[in-house]
Amino acid sequence: MKIAIGSDHAGFDMKEYLRDLLKSEGYVVEDVGTHYPTPADYPDYAEKVGQLVGSGGADFGILICGTGLGMSIAANKIKNVRAALCLSEEYAELARRHNNANVLCLAGRFLNDESSAKILKKFLATPFDGENKNGERHKRRVEKISSLESR
Ligand code: RB5
Repeated sequence: MKIAIGSDHAGFDMKEYLRDLLKSEGYVVEDVGTHYPTPADYPDYAEKVGQLVGSGGADFGILICGTGLGMSIAANKIKNVRAALCLSEEYAELARRHNNANVLCLAGRFLNDESSAKILKKFLATPFDGENKNGERHKRRVEKISSLESR
């Protein structure tokens, strides 16, 4: 599984930590930057990760800024991206099960490394309910989200 990861300066430390954690667990990781802790504009990294995930060049994306808000707003402008800001493991589970989220946004200034790793692991381990017989409503709703892209 290939994972694209990016951050601005406010998510830099967490991005480095999660990137190394994912690599140590055998994931193929593409780090799009920022590669420095100096000020950087979050939409630039949301675009890079979003393009990779939206085009099928990565299975999932991770984006980290101070709040996770700017990253999620920017990434959701990109076709085929469903970016979800998750502040807990329960959010991560529901973002996958109900929304088929493919980009996880995290808040570098509001989570510690341990919490962010738990949220990330839950996100990657949880399948979309829309593939199950009882999850047709979730599939229909996510398809309606996709149809908004062409209107
Ligand atoms: C940077 O100061 C901050 O605005 C950014 O990391 C993010 O929180 C934006 O949504």
